[in-house]
Amino acid sequence: MRILAIESSCDETAAAVVEDGRKALSSVVSSQIELHKVYGGVVPEIASRSHIEMISQIAGAAVSEAELDYTDLDAIAVTYAPGLIGSLLVGVNFAKGLAASLNVPLIPVHHMRGHIAANYLAFPELTPPFLCLVVSGGHTMMTEVCGYTSFRMIGKTRDDAAGECFDKAARVMGLPYPGGVYLDRAAESGNAEAFHFPHPNIAGSPLDFSFSGMKTAIINLCHTHRQKGETPAVEDLSASFRKAVVEVLWERLLLAIQKTRYDKIALAGGVAANRGLRRKLEAECAERKLQLYLPPLPLCGDNAAMIGAQAFYEYQEGQVAGPDLNGTASLPIDHSYCVGKRRSGAAG
Ligand code: KG4
Ligand code: ZN
Repeated sequence: MRILAIESSCDETAAAVVEDGRKALSSVVSSQIELHKVYGGVVPEIASRSHIEMISQIAGAAVSEAELDYTDLDAIAVTYAPGLIGSLLVGVNFAKGLAASLNVPLIPVHHMRGHIAANYLAFPELTPPFLCLVVSGGHTMMTEVCGYTSFRMIGKTRDDAAGECFDKAARVMGLPYPGGVYLDRAAESGNAEAFHFPHPNIAGSPLDFSFSGMKTAIINLCHTHRQKGETPAVEDLSASFRKAVVEVLWERLLLAIQKTRYDKIALAGGVAANRGLRRKLEAECAERKLQLYLPPLPLCGDNAAMIGAQAFYEYQEGQVAGPDLNGTASLPIDHSYCVGKRRSGAAG
């Protein structure tokens, strides 16, 4: 089954053709970084307008890169939640029109399920059940992937996401947007013992995360130094902060592994590209003889191949949308579009 997938939930316009959930025949990603850089973060209205301009040509490029015609496609998939609503609506509307004109099914895909499915493209042998740490710019969670379309979230952030925390820390240090990437780069040559940051715990919820306190800690540290006329090395600050965030993520993941006894662990989301996090998980999982799946770097950030991979499994479960499909800004990962193979109408 060949699925053309569309992804436009944030600041990447992406399209890909994926075969049987496991093989990307093409993947085209157009980043809006240059448009948002000057503002230091994503400006939602600019993002939507750019998606509108780019989406037709990106979808066309994905079809021709796969050496196919539109008429060779068996289905259209689209990210319908969660994300920036104006951005989601561009992809949803485009996908709806395309599915109607080709008379093929329209498959709605949850963006975070897509991030997890990026691992199916990279690792043919990976099948559920497994435990996944999902770390992106908007979400941070630990979920049991019980089946391809069955999830049990066992921990989540109570406030900021890990990516957002990296981005804000980078911003206060004066690094360019997108901050997480530059902070990770700077950290490579810094002293991780130079500064110490808190490791916040949520009383009574040991598997939940809280990053807002860590974010405030680094903002305060930078302001205090500035008031004293001091300029600590960005490399040392980055290395120390990265170490603290990575330790917090690993502490929760270790606890989840001990509680659930999974021996297959996957990482997903934009922050999965973080070099410090990858090295830490590799070392800790090797020591415990746990099978670790780290998505290759091009599959960590937003892309449509991951949406096409997940769409294959959603379709097998009867997850098909009608012409009333809407975008949804916020939606839990365990919410299915159709419940009991009947559309619930909840995606409004
Ligand atoms: O998954 P993603 O592309 O978009 C969302 O679904 O949110 O994640 C983007 C996030 C941003 O916060 C970005 O700074 C962060 O992932 N990120 C990184 C790295 N690469 C991307 N954070 C830390 N280290 C990186 N190497
Ligand atoms: Zn994402």
